[in-house]
Formats: sequence, structure tokens, C-alpha cells
Amino acid sequence: MNYYLRMKEKFENLKNKEDVIILAVESSCDETSIAIVKNGRDVLANIISSQIEIHRRFGGVVPEVASRNHILAISNVFEDALKEAGIDKKDIDAVAVTYGAGLMGALLVGVNFAKGLAYSLDVPLIKVSHVHGHIAANYISHKSLKPPFMCLMVSGGHTAILNVEDYNKMTMLGSTVDDAVGEAFDKVARVLGLPYPGGPEIDKLAESGTKKYNFSVSKSLNKTFNFSFSGIKTEVVNLVHNKKQKGEEIDSADIARSFEESVTDELCSKVMRAARQFDAKQLVVAGGVGANSMLKSKLSQMCDKCAIQFYAPVLRYCTDNAGMIASMGYFMMKDGLGLAQLDLTAKPNVELK
Ligand code: KG4
Ligand code: ZN
Repeated sequence: MNYYLRMKEKFENLKNKEDVIILAVESSCDETSIAIVKNGRDVLANIISSQIEIHRRFGGVVPEVASRNHILAISNVFEDALKEAGIDKKDIDAVAVTYGAGLMGALLVGVNFAKGLAYSLDVPLIKVSHVHGHIAANYISHKSLKPPFMCLMVSGGHTAILNVEDYNKMTMLGSTVDDAVGEAFDKVARVLGLPYPGGPEIDKLAESGTKKYNFSVSKSLNKTFNFSFSGIKTEVVNLVHNKKQKGEEIDSADIARSFEESVTDELCSKVMRAARQFDAKQLVVAGGVGANSMLKSKLSQMCDKCAIQFYAPVLRYCTDNAGMIASMGYFMMKDGLGLAQLDLTAKPNVELK
């Protein structure tokens, strides 16, 4: 039987196998990660080699530097994952990989590693969208969580509201028309002189600040589920530049607090409106900005009032990791989706739904 048909048959057979072990590879940005997950929910290993320290001196991710460091790290990350999971290579039933969205060169390292591994183990290769992976971070964090739910997707590359009807069926209700919310956090942090990545820094700093400034988000999108964050980002940048020019003190904590309050209010009000309109019983936050403490606390309080169950991934699964890719790969396999061949290539942009 030729390779293509053999993989198709093996992929089909996995649907009915009692225990399915998926090894996943994630290298879309500045984290080289390999995870081994059983039945989509049980994480046996989730190794993350972060390049944050390397990119910090540049104030952001340098794509070429990221690709080179993925190459340096990936084999060790793989060995560590096998060791931590305590399994042998032959126990792996399928290999899942992030094929997009992300940095082209960085993605290619993971995609090529995954292809080589799947071929050598003679197991199916599953291509997973990074953004869908972020949603699945909730399946490994909350063992009984199942669709349907309303999802607020907030990362460094995406900001959207998704009505998730089933594991592989979702409708995008709205998205950002310009910057992703994580991008706005990172730019505001940068102008305040905080290190990369800026989101967690703003989160910490805002705790000691007060909402002194009334930064605003565009009202023109009020009736939609779309977002715009470039205006508020520019407002903050201009304020800081003006203060610097006048030699005034930069009250960073108050600026961080005011920015975070406005942005989280905007995210919460739109996703809650979506949840009410679609009569959602559960609300799920996904992506790196899902780690934000103010966002989680506001959403959790609002959901309580509306008798909606609120979920956020545990912190280590919020930002990029391969555990979430393995989980999504499992639920795709269950629906017969995502089987890739050896001509799989990376895609910098992947449609959200
Ligand atoms: O999901 P992610 O790891 O990567 C992408 O897929 O983009 O998200 C990274 C983004 C960065 O912009 C980072 O600053 C932001 O998530 N982030 C946060 C927090 N932790 C990470 N933003 C706000 N508050 C946080 N605690
Ligand atoms: Zn991500």
C-alpha cells in the first residue's frame, strides 16, 4: 500500500483506538515546544524552550534569530519531552504540528521536524492552526470542558470573538480591524520602557496604579463585535511623548492601569454581549492575553452575574506551548480532520474559522 493510503488508514483507525498518544511540535514564534498528550486532555510532557531572553535585547522578536534558535533547540526539546513522558518513540500514535499562523521561518523548523518524525515513525501527521490550539489550551486545563461556548481569543497576533459550536465548528463573530490586543499591550509597554514581552509587565505595573486617564476605544464599532486598538495605543504613545517633551514625570503605573482598564472593558463588554445574544452557557478566554489578571477577574465577575460558567487556561497553557497543539490535533483526528502529507508547508496566515 502506498504511503498516502497507509497514513489515511492509520489515521482512520485512531478514531476507535482506546488510548491515543499525540506528540506535538510548536515553533510559530519565540517558543520551541514539544508536548506529548494522551487522549487530548492528559499532558504527559510539555517542554517549552523560551527565547524571550534572546529577543529582549531587541525589544521584540527578530524572525531570523527565532528560526536559528528553533533549529538549535528542537532536538533537545524532543529528547526532554520523551524523557519526561516516560515513553518510547514507538508509543507515539500521531505527530501534530503548528503549520500557521506565525513567522514563516520559525514555523518551517517545526513543520520540517514534525514531517521527518512522522515519516520515520510511520505515523500520521496532523496539521493544526495555532489559534485553534489556543482554544484547546482550555481542554487540557479543564478536563470536563466541552463545546458549545463563546470564546474570546486574545493573543499577540489575534483578537476575535468566536462562537464555538463544536470542537471543529466555529463562527467568527468579530475580530480586530487593526492591531491585536497583545500587540497593543507590547507597544504601550515599550513606550513606558518596560521589557519585552510587555503584557505581563503592564499587568504587574497596573496593580499599583489608578485610572487617572480616560483613554478611549473607537465608538464607531460599538454595534459590531469588531475591535480596534490602534487608536488607544497611539493615544498612550502621544501622551508619553508629550510628557517627555515637557520634562514631566511619566506616571507609568497610572498610565498602565488606565490603558488596561479601557482595553479590558472593551473586550468584556463585547464578548458578554455576544454571550447573551447567542445564549451561551459557557465563556472561554484563549491566547496569551488570557493570562491578564484584570481581564480574568472582570470576565469572571460578569459571568457570575449572568449565570455563565467562565473558563481560562491555567497560566502555563495560556501562552505558546505544544500541549495545546496536541490537544487540538486529537479533537481534529476524532472528526477525521487535519491529516497532512509530506508536502505540508508552513503558512504565515491561517483563517480563523
Ligand atoms: O498567545 P501568545 O503567547 O502568542 C501569540 O500567539 O501571539 O500571546 C502573546 C501575547 C503577547 O503580546 C504578550 O504580551 C501577551 O500575550 N501577554 C499578556 C499577558 N501575558 C502575556 N498580556 C497581558 N497580560 C498578561 N498577563
Ligand atoms: Zn500564540
